[in-house]
Amino acid sequence: MKQDMIVILDLGSTENTTIARQIRDLGVYSEIHPHDITVDELKALDNVKGIIINGGENRIVDGVAIDVNPAIYDCGYPIIAIDHEPAKCDKKYADMPSEADIKSFLFDTCKAEANWNMKNFIDDQVEIIRRQVGDKKVLLALSGGVDSSVVAALLIKAIGKQLVCVHVNHGLMRKNESESVVEIFRNKLDANLVYVDATDRFLGKLENVADPEQKRKIIGGEFIRVFEEEARKLEGIDFLGQGTIYPDIIESGTKTAKCVKSHHNVGGLPEDLQFELVEPLAQLFKDEVRACGVELGLPAEMVYRQPFPGPGLGVRCLGAITRERLEALRESDAILRDEFAKAGLDKTVWQYFTVVPDFKAVGVRDNARSMGYMCVIRAVNTIDAMTATIERIDYDILEKIADRITAEVPSINRVVYEITKKPVATIEFE
Ligand code: XMP
Repeated sequence: MKQDMIVILDLGSTENTTIARQIRDLGVYSEIHPHDITVDELKALDNVKGIIINGGENRIVDGVAIDVNPAIYDCGYPIIAIDHEPAKCDKKYADMPSEADIKSFLFDTCKAEANWNMKNFIDDQVEIIRRQVGDKKVLLALSGGVDSSVVAALLIKAIGKQLVCVHVNHGLMRKNESESVVEIFRNKLDANLVYVDATDRFLGKLENVADPEQKRKIIGGEFIRVFEEEARKLEGIDFLGQGTIYPDIIESGTKTAKCVKSHHNVGGLPEDLQFELVEPLAQLFKDEVRACGVELGLPAEMVYRQPFPGPGLGVRCLGAITRERLEALRESDAILRDEFAKAGLDKTVWQYFTVVPDFKAVGVRDNARSMGYMCVIRAVNTIDAMTATIERIDYDILEKIADRITAEVPSINRVVYEITKKPVATIEFE
Protein backbone atom coordinates (compact mmCIF):
# COMPACT_ATOMS: atom_id res chain seq x y z
CA MET A 1 0.00 0.00 0.00
CA LYS A 2 1.60 3.24 -1.16
CA GLN A 3 -1.12 5.42 0.27
CA ASP A 4 -1.05 7.03 3.70
CA MET A 5 -3.62 5.64 6.11
CA ILE A 6 -5.56 6.86 9.12
CA VAL A 7 -6.82 4.05 11.34
CA ILE A 8 -10.14 4.44 13.15
CA LEU A 9 -10.37 2.22 16.23
CA ASP A 10 -13.97 1.24 16.85
CA LEU A 11 -14.88 1.75 20.46
CA GLY A 12 -18.61 1.50 20.06
CA SER A 13 -19.47 4.50 17.92
CA THR A 14 -22.10 4.41 15.20
CA GLU A 15 -20.19 7.16 13.37
CA ASN A 16 -17.14 5.13 12.30
CA THR A 17 -18.23 4.92 8.70
CA THR A 18 -19.10 8.62 8.53
CA ILE A 19 -15.62 9.57 9.73
CA ALA A 20 -13.90 7.07 7.44
CA ARG A 21 -15.88 8.54 4.52
CA GLN A 22 -15.04 12.07 5.52
CA ILE A 23 -11.31 11.31 5.70
CA ARG A 24 -11.35 9.53 2.33
CA ASP A 25 -13.23 12.46 0.82
CA LEU A 26 -10.35 14.67 2.03
CA GLY A 27 -8.04 12.45 -0.05
CA VAL A 28 -6.54 10.33 2.74
CA TYR A 29 -7.20 6.60 2.94
CA SER A 30 -8.89 5.43 6.13
CA GLU A 31 -9.86 2.03 7.57
CA ILE A 32 -11.93 0.99 10.59
CA HIS A 33 -10.34 -1.61 12.89
CA PRO A 34 -11.50 -3.33 16.09
CA HIS A 35 -10.61 -1.62 19.38
CA ASP A 36 -8.42 -4.50 20.58
CA ILE A 37 -6.01 -4.47 17.65
CA THR A 38 -2.46 -5.15 18.85
CA VAL A 39 0.52 -2.90 18.17
CA ASP A 40 2.02 -5.59 15.93
CA GLU A 41 -1.17 -5.79 13.89
CA LEU A 42 -1.24 -2.03 13.63
CA LYS A 43 2.40 -1.86 12.51
CA ALA A 44 1.71 -4.56 9.92
CA LEU A 45 -0.75 -2.19 8.22
CA ASP A 46 1.35 -0.23 5.77
CA ASN A 47 1.77 3.52 6.01
CA VAL A 48 -0.31 4.31 9.12
CA LYS A 49 0.00 8.04 9.80
CA GLY A 50 -2.40 8.47 12.71
CA ILE A 51 -5.15 6.96 14.83
CA ILE A 52 -8.65 8.08 15.76
CA ILE A 53 -10.07 6.34 18.82
CA ASN A 54 -13.78 6.60 18.32
CA GLY A 55 -15.89 5.99 21.42
CA GLY A 56 -19.66 5.90 21.49
CA GLU A 57 -22.92 4.54 22.80
CA ASN A 58 -22.08 0.86 22.29
CA ARG A 59 -18.91 1.03 24.38
CA ILE A 60 -20.35 -0.99 27.23
CA VAL A 61 -20.19 -4.67 26.27
CA ASP A 62 -21.61 -7.18 28.81
CA GLY A 63 -21.62 -4.48 31.48
CA VAL A 64 -17.96 -3.56 31.03
CA ALA A 65 -16.59 -0.50 29.23
CA ILE A 66 -14.20 -1.77 26.56
CA ASP A 67 -10.94 0.03 25.88
CA VAL A 68 -8.11 -0.03 23.39
CA ASN A 69 -4.95 -1.95 24.01
CA PRO A 70 -2.92 0.32 26.40
CA ALA A 71 0.27 -0.23 24.37
CA ILE A 72 -1.39 1.60 21.47
CA TYR A 73 -0.89 4.90 23.31
CA ASP A 74 2.88 4.38 23.30
CA CYS A 75 3.33 3.18 19.75
CA GLY A 76 4.32 6.59 18.47
CA TYR A 77 1.43 7.45 16.15
CA PRO A 78 -0.50 10.71 16.57
CA ILE A 79 -3.84 9.96 18.27
CA ILE A 80 -7.10 11.81 18.72
CA ALA A 81 -9.96 10.47 20.80
CA ILE A 82 -13.70 11.08 20.45
CA ASP A 83 -16.15 10.55 23.37
CA HIS A 84 -13.56 8.65 25.40
CA GLU A 85 -11.11 9.42 28.17
CA PRO A 86 -7.83 8.26 26.69
CA ALA A 87 -4.66 7.58 28.69
CA LYS A 88 -2.75 9.92 26.45
CA CYS A 89 -3.49 11.55 23.13
CA ASP A 90 -2.91 14.61 21.00
CA LYS A 91 -6.48 15.91 21.34
CA LYS A 92 -9.87 14.83 22.71
CA TYR A 93 -13.31 15.70 21.45
CA ALA A 94 -16.58 15.20 23.32
CA ASP A 95 -18.40 15.00 19.97
CA MET A 96 -17.64 14.57 16.30
CA PRO A 97 -14.77 16.93 15.43
CA SER A 98 -15.45 19.56 12.77
CA GLU A 99 -14.09 19.14 9.27
CA ALA A 100 -11.46 21.80 10.02
CA ASP A 101 -10.35 19.79 13.08
CA ILE A 102 -10.11 16.61 11.04
CA LYS A 103 -8.17 18.41 8.31
CA SER A 104 -5.76 19.83 10.85
CA PHE A 105 -5.24 16.35 12.37
CA LEU A 106 -4.61 14.77 8.96
CA PHE A 107 -2.37 17.34 7.41
CA ASP A 108 -0.76 19.27 10.32
CA THR A 109 -0.46 16.64 13.06
CA CYS A 110 -0.11 13.43 11.01
CA LYS A 111 1.52 15.07 7.97
CA ALA A 112 -0.54 12.71 5.79
CA GLU A 113 -0.43 13.17 2.05
CA ALA A 114 -3.73 13.44 0.16
CA ASN A 115 -2.85 10.58 -2.16
CA TRP A 116 -6.01 8.46 -1.97
CA ASN A 117 -7.42 8.25 -5.47
CA MET A 118 -8.62 5.52 -7.77
CA LYS A 119 -5.56 5.49 -9.98
CA ASN A 120 -3.29 4.79 -6.99
CA PHE A 121 -5.81 2.30 -5.60
CA ILE A 122 -5.83 0.37 -8.88
CA ASP A 123 -2.01 0.40 -9.13
CA ASP A 124 -1.76 -0.92 -5.56
CA GLN A 125 -4.38 -3.62 -6.08
CA VAL A 126 -2.86 -4.81 -9.36
CA GLU A 127 0.39 -5.41 -7.47
CA ILE A 128 -1.34 -7.08 -4.53
CA ILE A 129 -3.42 -9.36 -6.79
CA ARG A 130 -0.36 -10.39 -8.81
CA ARG A 131 1.52 -11.17 -5.60
CA GLN A 132 -1.40 -13.20 -4.19
CA VAL A 133 -2.25 -15.13 -7.36
CA GLY A 134 1.17 -15.66 -8.94
CA ASP A 135 0.72 -17.75 -12.09
CA LYS A 136 -2.44 -19.49 -10.81
CA LYS A 137 -6.01 -19.09 -12.07
CA VAL A 138 -8.94 -17.20 -10.55
CA LEU A 139 -12.61 -18.06 -11.11
CA LEU A 140 -15.29 -15.37 -10.95
CA ALA A 141 -19.09 -15.47 -11.17
CA LEU A 142 -19.77 -12.46 -13.39
CA SER A 143 -23.41 -11.44 -13.06
CA GLY A 144 -23.02 -8.12 -14.83
CA GLY A 145 -23.88 -6.20 -11.65
CA VAL A 146 -21.69 -3.30 -10.57
CA ASP A 147 -19.50 -5.14 -8.05
CA SER A 148 -18.79 -8.28 -10.05
CA SER A 149 -18.14 -6.23 -13.21
CA VAL A 150 -15.65 -3.95 -11.46
CA VAL A 151 -13.85 -6.90 -9.82
CA ALA A 152 -13.67 -8.59 -13.24
CA ALA A 153 -12.20 -5.48 -14.90
CA LEU A 154 -9.65 -5.07 -12.10
CA LEU A 155 -8.63 -8.74 -12.22
CA ILE A 156 -8.34 -8.63 -16.01
CA LYS A 157 -5.99 -5.66 -15.68
CA ALA A 158 -3.91 -7.53 -13.09
CA ILE A 159 -3.81 -11.09 -14.45
CA GLY A 160 -5.50 -11.06 -17.89
CA LYS A 161 -6.44 -14.55 -19.07
CA GLN A 162 -5.58 -16.15 -15.72
CA LEU A 163 -9.05 -14.93 -14.76
CA VAL A 164 -11.90 -17.18 -15.87
CA CYS A 165 -15.28 -15.42 -15.73
CA VAL A 166 -18.45 -17.48 -15.74
CA HIS A 167 -21.65 -15.69 -16.70
CA VAL A 168 -24.79 -17.69 -16.00
CA ASN A 169 -27.82 -16.42 -17.89
CA HIS A 170 -30.72 -17.72 -15.81
CA GLY A 171 -33.26 -16.43 -18.32
CA LEU A 172 -34.42 -13.81 -15.82
CA MET A 173 -32.04 -11.07 -16.95
CA ARG A 174 -33.29 -7.79 -18.34
CA LYS A 175 -33.37 -7.16 -22.08
CA ASN A 176 -29.87 -7.26 -23.63
CA GLU A 177 -28.16 -7.64 -20.26
CA SER A 178 -26.35 -10.92 -20.92
CA GLU A 179 -25.51 -9.79 -24.44
CA SER A 180 -23.82 -6.68 -23.08
CA VAL A 181 -21.79 -8.73 -20.56
CA VAL A 182 -20.48 -10.81 -23.48
CA GLU A 183 -19.93 -7.74 -25.65
CA ILE A 184 -17.99 -5.81 -23.01
CA PHE A 185 -16.00 -8.55 -21.35
CA ARG A 186 -15.33 -10.99 -24.18
CA ASN A 187 -15.19 -8.62 -27.14
CA LYS A 188 -13.90 -5.37 -25.65
CA LEU A 189 -11.80 -6.48 -22.66
CA ASP A 190 -10.73 -9.78 -24.24
CA ALA A 191 -11.69 -11.70 -21.11
CA ASN A 192 -11.61 -15.43 -20.73
CA LEU A 193 -15.42 -15.71 -20.43
CA VAL A 194 -17.56 -18.83 -20.18
CA TYR A 195 -21.14 -17.94 -21.11
CA VAL A 196 -23.79 -20.40 -19.96
CA ASP A 197 -27.33 -20.04 -21.26
CA ALA A 198 -29.27 -21.89 -18.58
CA THR A 199 -32.66 -20.35 -19.43
CA ASP A 200 -34.45 -23.62 -20.16
CA ARG A 201 -33.06 -25.26 -17.06
CA PHE A 202 -34.18 -22.43 -14.73
CA LEU A 203 -37.60 -21.97 -16.34
CA GLY A 204 -38.12 -25.72 -16.22
CA LYS A 205 -37.46 -25.83 -12.47
CA LEU A 206 -39.70 -22.80 -11.92
CA GLU A 207 -42.67 -24.17 -13.84
CA ASN A 208 -45.89 -23.93 -11.78
CA VAL A 209 -44.03 -22.57 -8.74
CA ALA A 210 -46.00 -19.59 -7.42
CA ASP A 211 -44.61 -19.06 -3.90
CA PRO A 212 -42.08 -16.17 -3.88
CA GLU A 213 -39.69 -17.70 -1.35
CA GLN A 214 -39.79 -21.02 -3.15
CA LYS A 215 -38.97 -19.21 -6.40
CA ARG A 216 -36.03 -17.44 -4.74
CA LYS A 217 -34.75 -20.74 -3.32
CA ILE A 218 -34.93 -22.46 -6.69
CA ILE A 219 -33.18 -19.60 -8.49
CA GLY A 220 -30.42 -19.28 -5.84
CA GLY A 221 -29.90 -23.03 -5.53
CA GLU A 222 -29.86 -23.66 -9.26
CA PHE A 223 -27.41 -20.80 -9.73
CA ILE A 224 -24.93 -22.44 -7.39
CA ARG A 225 -25.39 -25.82 -9.09
CA VAL A 226 -24.76 -24.39 -12.57
CA PHE A 227 -21.73 -22.44 -11.33
CA GLU A 228 -20.39 -25.52 -9.55
CA GLU A 229 -20.76 -27.66 -12.69
CA GLU A 230 -18.80 -25.09 -14.69
CA ALA A 231 -16.14 -24.84 -11.97
CA ARG A 232 -15.67 -28.61 -12.03
CA LYS A 233 -15.09 -28.55 -15.80
CA LEU A 234 -12.21 -26.11 -15.38
CA GLU A 235 -8.75 -27.33 -14.46
CA GLY A 236 -6.27 -25.84 -12.03
CA ILE A 237 -8.33 -23.11 -10.38
CA ASP A 238 -6.99 -22.10 -6.97
CA PHE A 239 -8.73 -18.79 -6.33
CA LEU A 240 -12.24 -17.42 -6.34
CA GLY A 241 -12.75 -13.72 -7.11
CA GLN A 242 -15.50 -12.00 -5.13
CA GLY A 243 -17.18 -8.61 -5.35
CA THR A 244 -17.27 -8.12 -1.59
CA ILE A 245 -17.35 -4.40 -0.76
CA TYR A 246 -16.73 -2.47 2.47
CA PRO A 247 -20.38 -2.16 3.59
CA ASP A 248 -20.68 -5.99 3.36
CA ILE A 249 -17.84 -6.24 5.85
CA ILE A 250 -19.02 -3.44 8.14
CA GLU A 251 -22.59 -4.79 8.15
CA SER A 252 -21.31 -8.17 9.28
CA GLY A 253 -20.58 -6.44 12.59
CA THR A 254 -17.47 -5.78 14.65
CA LYS A 255 -17.24 -6.48 18.36
CA THR A 256 -19.26 -3.42 19.23
CA ALA A 257 -21.26 -2.69 16.09
CA LYS A 258 -24.43 -4.71 15.79
CA CYS A 259 -24.58 -7.24 12.99
CA VAL A 260 -26.96 -5.90 10.34
CA LYS A 261 -26.65 -8.87 8.02
CA SER A 262 -24.22 -11.72 7.83
CA HIS A 263 -21.74 -11.40 5.06
CA HIS A 264 -21.65 -14.77 3.43
CA ASN A 265 -19.10 -15.57 0.84
CA VAL A 266 -20.02 -18.12 -1.75
CA GLY A 267 -22.93 -19.47 0.23
CA GLY A 268 -23.43 -23.07 -0.76
CA LEU A 269 -20.43 -24.11 -2.82
CA PRO A 270 -19.58 -27.70 -1.85
CA GLU A 271 -16.80 -28.37 0.65
CA ASP A 272 -14.57 -30.15 -1.85
CA LEU A 273 -14.48 -27.04 -4.05
CA GLN A 274 -12.06 -25.15 -1.85
CA PHE A 275 -10.79 -21.85 -3.14
CA GLU A 276 -8.81 -19.04 -1.60
CA LEU A 277 -10.70 -15.76 -1.97
CA VAL A 278 -9.51 -12.71 -3.91
CA GLU A 279 -11.53 -9.69 -2.78
CA PRO A 280 -9.83 -6.55 -4.11
CA LEU A 281 -12.82 -4.23 -3.51
CA ALA A 282 -13.25 -5.21 0.13
CA GLN A 283 -12.17 -1.77 1.37
CA LEU A 284 -14.29 0.32 -1.01
CA PHE A 285 -17.60 2.08 -0.45
CA LYS A 286 -20.17 1.70 -3.23
CA ASP A 287 -19.48 5.07 -4.88
CA GLU A 288 -15.74 4.30 -4.80
CA VAL A 289 -16.46 0.97 -6.52
CA ARG A 290 -18.23 2.91 -9.28
CA ALA A 291 -15.35 5.40 -9.54
CA CYS A 292 -12.96 2.45 -9.80
CA GLY A 293 -15.09 1.00 -12.63
CA VAL A 294 -15.00 4.30 -14.50
CA GLU A 295 -11.21 4.54 -14.05
CA LEU A 296 -10.94 0.99 -15.46
CA GLY A 297 -12.91 2.05 -18.53
CA LEU A 298 -16.22 0.28 -17.92
CA PRO A 299 -19.24 1.93 -19.59
CA ALA A 300 -21.45 4.23 -17.51
CA GLU A 301 -24.56 2.01 -18.01
CA MET A 302 -22.75 -0.78 -16.23
CA VAL A 303 -21.16 1.24 -13.45
CA TYR A 304 -24.15 3.44 -12.62
CA ARG A 305 -26.88 0.88 -13.11
CA GLN A 306 -29.73 0.71 -10.61
CA PRO A 307 -29.87 -2.14 -8.10
CA PHE A 308 -31.23 -5.36 -9.58
CA PRO A 309 -32.19 -8.29 -7.34
CA GLY A 310 -30.34 -11.60 -7.66
CA PRO A 311 -33.53 -13.50 -8.67
CA GLY A 312 -33.91 -10.90 -11.42
CA LEU A 313 -37.17 -10.64 -13.32
CA GLY A 314 -38.25 -13.85 -11.55
CA VAL A 315 -39.70 -11.87 -8.62
CA ARG A 316 -41.38 -9.33 -10.93
CA CYS A 317 -43.19 -11.91 -13.05
CA LEU A 318 -45.61 -12.47 -10.19
CA GLY A 319 -46.83 -15.94 -9.25
CA ALA A 320 -45.88 -18.91 -11.44
CA ILE A 321 -43.60 -17.69 -14.26
CA THR A 322 -44.68 -18.24 -17.87
CA ARG A 323 -42.56 -17.46 -20.91
CA GLU A 324 -45.28 -15.22 -22.32
CA ARG A 325 -45.52 -13.04 -19.21
CA LEU A 326 -41.75 -13.02 -18.78
CA GLU A 327 -41.41 -11.68 -22.30
CA ALA A 328 -44.07 -9.01 -21.63
CA LEU A 329 -42.18 -8.05 -18.46
CA ARG A 330 -38.81 -7.86 -20.20
CA GLU A 331 -40.17 -5.72 -23.04
CA SER A 332 -42.16 -3.36 -20.79
CA ASP A 333 -39.16 -2.95 -18.48
CA ALA A 334 -36.95 -2.07 -21.47
CA ILE A 335 -39.46 0.57 -22.61
CA LEU A 336 -39.67 2.04 -19.11
CA ARG A 337 -35.87 2.23 -18.88
CA ASP A 338 -35.63 3.79 -22.31
CA GLU A 339 -38.19 6.49 -21.50
CA PHE A 340 -36.65 7.16 -18.08
CA ALA A 341 -33.27 7.63 -19.72
CA LYS A 342 -34.74 10.01 -22.31
CA ALA A 343 -36.35 12.06 -19.52
CA GLY A 344 -33.14 12.06 -17.44
CA LEU A 345 -34.92 10.17 -14.65
CA ASP A 346 -32.36 7.35 -14.81
CA LYS A 347 -29.90 9.73 -13.13
CA THR A 348 -32.20 10.70 -10.27
CA VAL A 349 -34.53 7.79 -9.45
CA TRP A 350 -32.99 5.08 -7.25
CA GLN A 351 -34.86 2.07 -8.61
CA TYR A 352 -37.56 1.71 -11.27
CA PHE A 353 -39.03 -1.29 -13.00
CA THR A 354 -42.21 -2.92 -14.24
CA VAL A 355 -44.11 -5.83 -12.73
CA VAL A 356 -46.55 -8.14 -14.50
CA PRO A 357 -49.12 -9.87 -12.21
CA ASP A 358 -50.59 -13.22 -13.15
CA PHE A 359 -54.09 -12.27 -14.13
CA LYS A 360 -55.74 -10.84 -17.20
CA ALA A 361 -57.87 -7.72 -17.47
CA VAL A 362 -60.52 -6.87 -20.02
CA GLY A 363 -59.66 -4.42 -22.77
CA VAL A 364 -60.47 -3.38 -26.32
CA ARG A 365 -58.03 -4.01 -29.12
CA ASP A 366 -58.87 -3.69 -32.84
CA ASN A 367 -62.49 -2.89 -31.98
CA ALA A 368 -62.96 -6.15 -30.16
CA ARG A 369 -63.08 -7.14 -26.53
CA SER A 370 -59.79 -8.77 -25.59
CA MET A 371 -58.06 -10.02 -22.49
CA GLY A 372 -54.57 -8.78 -21.67
CA TYR A 373 -52.03 -8.52 -18.87
CA MET A 374 -51.65 -5.52 -16.64
CA CYS A 375 -48.27 -3.86 -16.21
CA VAL A 376 -47.38 -2.02 -13.01
CA ILE A 377 -44.73 0.71 -12.95
CA ARG A 378 -42.75 1.13 -9.74
CA ALA A 379 -40.27 4.01 -9.22
CA VAL A 380 -38.83 4.62 -5.77
CA ASN A 381 -36.23 6.65 -3.94
CA THR A 382 -34.39 5.53 -0.86
CA ILE A 383 -31.09 5.79 0.97
CA ASP A 384 -30.77 2.27 2.32
CA ALA A 385 -33.77 0.34 0.87
CA MET A 386 -35.21 -0.03 4.38
CA THR A 387 -37.78 2.69 3.70
CA ALA A 388 -38.69 4.20 0.34
CA THR A 389 -40.71 7.05 -1.12
CA ILE A 390 -42.32 7.15 -4.54
CA GLU A 391 -41.10 9.33 -7.37
CA ARG A 392 -43.63 11.94 -8.58
CA ILE A 393 -43.43 11.38 -12.29
CA ASP A 394 -44.77 13.84 -14.78
CA TYR A 395 -48.10 12.67 -16.25
CA ASP A 396 -46.94 13.29 -19.82
CA ILE A 397 -44.05 10.91 -19.29
CA LEU A 398 -46.32 8.30 -17.70
CA GLU A 399 -48.80 8.54 -20.55
CA LYS A 400 -46.07 8.19 -23.15
CA ILE A 401 -44.77 5.07 -21.37
CA ALA A 402 -48.31 3.60 -21.18
CA ASP A 403 -48.87 4.31 -24.90
CA ARG A 404 -45.60 2.70 -25.88
CA ILE A 405 -46.04 -0.37 -23.70
CA THR A 406 -49.57 -1.09 -24.91
CA ALA A 407 -48.54 -0.46 -28.55
CA GLU A 408 -45.30 -2.43 -28.49
CA VAL A 409 -46.23 -5.27 -26.15
CA PRO A 410 -49.41 -6.83 -27.55
CA SER A 411 -50.15 -9.00 -24.51
CA ILE A 412 -50.42 -5.94 -22.21
CA ASN A 413 -53.60 -3.84 -22.26
CA ARG A 414 -53.32 -1.81 -19.05
CA VAL A 415 -50.54 0.18 -17.36
CA VAL A 416 -50.86 1.42 -13.78
CA TYR A 417 -48.56 3.48 -11.56
CA GLU A 418 -47.88 2.25 -8.03
CA ILE A 419 -47.90 5.00 -5.39
CA THR A 420 -47.31 3.15 -2.14
CA LYS A 421 -44.38 3.93 0.15
CA LYS A 422 -42.24 1.40 1.97
CA PRO A 423 -43.53 0.68 4.56
CA VAL A 424 -46.28 -0.40 4.26
CA ALA A 425 -45.45 -1.85 0.85
CA THR A 426 -42.01 -3.30 0.01
CA ILE A 427 -40.10 -2.14 -3.05
CA GLU A 428 -40.50 -5.43 -4.88
CA PHE A 429 -43.90 -7.14 -5.09
CA GLU A 430 -42.68 -10.58 -4.08
P1 XMP B 1 -37.83 -4.91 -0.75
O1 XMP B 1 -38.73 -5.51 -1.77
O2 XMP B 1 -37.46 -5.86 0.35
O3 XMP B 1 -36.47 -4.61 -1.52
O4 XMP B 1 -38.34 -3.59 -0.22
C1 XMP B 1 -35.40 -3.88 -0.99
C2 XMP B 1 -34.25 -3.91 -2.00
O5 XMP B 1 -33.73 -5.24 -2.08
C3 XMP B 1 -33.85 -5.75 -3.40
N1 XMP B 1 -34.26 -7.15 -3.29
C4 XMP B 1 -33.46 -8.20 -3.51
N2 XMP B 1 -32.17 -8.26 -3.86
N3 XMP B 1 -32.28 -10.62 -3.82
C5 XMP B 1 -31.58 -9.47 -4.04
O6 XMP B 1 -30.40 -9.55 -4.40
C6 XMP B 1 -33.58 -10.65 -3.47
O7 XMP B 1 -34.19 -11.69 -3.29
C7 XMP B 1 -34.20 -9.35 -3.29
N4 XMP B 1 -35.44 -8.98 -2.92
C8 XMP B 1 -35.46 -7.62 -2.93
C9 XMP B 1 -34.89 -4.89 -4.08
O8 XMP B 1 -34.72 -4.86 -5.50
C10 XMP B 1 -34.68 -3.55 -3.43
O9 XMP B 1 -33.62 -2.83 -4.03
